[in-house]
Amino acid sequence: MKDAPDAILRGEQAAYLDTTLAARDPLLTEMEAYAAAHDHPISDPEVAALLSAVVAMRRPSLVVEVGTNIGYGAIVLGRAAPASARVVTVEKNPATADVARAFVARAGLAAKVEVVTDDALGFLAALAGPVDLAYLDCIKEDYPRYLELLGPKLSPGAVVLADNVLWKGLVAKPDAEVPDKELPRVAGLREFNRRITSAPYAGVILPIGDGVALATRS
Ligand SMILES: C[S@@+](CC[C@H](N)C(=O)[O-])C[C@H]1O[C@@H](n2cnc3c(N)ncnc32)[C@H](O)[C@@H]1O
Repeated sequence: MKDAPDAILRGEQAAYLDTTLAARDPLLTEMEAYAAAHDHPISDPEVAALLSAVVAMRRPSLVVEVGTNIGYGAIVLGRAAPASARVVTVEKNPATADVARAFVARAGLAAKVEVVTDDALGFLAALAGPVDLAYLDCIKEDYPRYLELLGPKLSPGAVVLADNVLWKGLVAKPDAEVPDKELPRVAGLREFNRRITSAPYAGVILPIGDGVALATRS
């Protein structure tokens, strides 16, 4: 979740774009309120809208999400994916994973969306592909490693999305202006952004939410 409503865009532009988002259903609205009340970092609604559109275009058979939290993104991915598709999402915190499973069940997606309780790196190392669409939304320092582990498992033309790749604007600042504790995250994201916008990936960084990378791999 971005920290400011106009983290990238000017305020009036962000407000206008919010009016263009399709009406979201009551469960997603409830989840947004739950996340705000319990300080859970779920995806922004505009990022959810992007996920939904890209999944509808790619029509993946297997979707992988890294970082489930309460299942907001997983439900969006599961709803947009074809009926025969499978969404597998990984969350390290068992209590948070249980909350996600409950929301996924309420969404009627329990048969389609699997919430795995595991560490993201071990999960990706053991994952069987081919993965048609991946959404990375977890430990920012580890994004380059996620890409290394996922790369060999991606199907031709697979899509990779990653959230928070501008990290509150810090990724674009000189190191001297980045707080010390943020430097490892910023370094990881800069490296990820370099890789996802270079061959064999064809990617772009979209200035929505906290910055979203959207790429395909040939
Ligand atoms: C930004 S949230 C995910 C939001 C979710 N993708 C969405 O769309 O709403 C990141 C989640 O990753 C989880 N996480 C942190 N470290 C992890 C790890 N090493 N392995 C798996 N999950 C982890 C956190 O507990 C948190 O719930």
